Amino acid sequence: QFGLRDYAVRHVLRIGTAVDVNALQNEEQYRQVLAREFNSVTPENVMKWDTIEPVRGQLNFEPADQLVDFARRHGQMVRGHTLVWHSQLPSWLTNGNFTNQELEEILRQHIYDVVRHFKGKVYSWDVVNEPLNEDGTLRDTIWLRALGPDYIAKAFRWAHEADPHAKLYINDYNIEWIGPKSNGMYELVKSLKEAGVPIDGVGFQGHLGIQYGFPGDIQQNMQRFADLGLDVALSEVDVRMILPVTQEKLTTQAEYYRRLMDACLNVRRCVSFTVWGFTDAHSWVPGFFQGQGAATIFDENYQPKPAYFALKDEL
Ligand code: XIL
Repeated sequence: QFGLRDYAVRHVLRIGTAVDVNALQNEEQYRQVLAREFNSVTPENVMKWDTIEPVRGQLNFEPADQLVDFARRHGQMVRGHTLVWHSQLPSWLTNGNFTNQELEEILRQHIYDVVRHFKGKVYSWDVVNEPLNEDGTLRDTIWLRALGPDYIAKAFRWAHEADPHAKLYINDYNIEWIGPKSNGMYELVKSLKEAGVPIDGVGFQGHLGIQYGFPGDIQQNMQRFADLGLDVALSEVDVRMILPVTQEKLTTQAEYYRRLMDACLNVRRCVSFTVWGFTDAHSWVPGFFQGQGAATIFDENYQPKPAYFALKDEL
């Protein structure tokens, strides 16, 4: 039985999904669909700092290693997610009352520890995740406060030292269309490139909802980043809807997925398309957006939805 991955290869496109390691451990059907459909995986949570180092100095790579091992056995690449973020940090870190200098040292050590552990196994890293406000300025985070705006360049340099072969990405949401936030990202990555910072790509998360409309200029937007000499990726695609599900909403959702894939296929440097979970049985959406859901391409029973067939047709 052919999966999306069999159709993606002729475009030299990676087709991926976020993986929930609990489901990976516990559900045979989850493993089957995951192996059949995708040639790239992103850990949904297990490479985040609160999982990797819940207690200071005690590194917990076990769940991430399980995913990396599954990926190796099934010929899937691994997108590392994520090294520098303001969210899902361990409490020893957020409550620690560290000096700025200590925080810089802690961040550097974290990047070295994690990137070295997965060296040769993780082909790309979301080095910095969600650094921007909606107006395109830098988000006020523990890292901005401690290291200043230079934290971004430093993080990329440290990651590059730890694994010179890994592709290094910056990643954010609400940057799919041209506007203040994506303009801020554009200026940021342009200045990083000009300063010789080892950045390889920009991830557009792609968390859409049919009630907000489709970002019609996404192809043009991704192209301007590609023209800076960067790879681009759709890194966390899902298309949510206000419940209940109707046939009409599923059709609109399918159209959104199709247009996202179309945009990616039309940008030569769009190298991967990753969905943020592949089944509605394991999606972050209902837990985070009240009254919304059904955002993925398979339903709760692992049956393909119109969105799945839209992606397949487009490929
Ligand atoms: C989400 C996960 O899907 C949830 O399971 C977790 O509770 C919170 O984080 N942007 C990101 C992802 O970069 O890491 C987030 O993942 C979704 C938004």
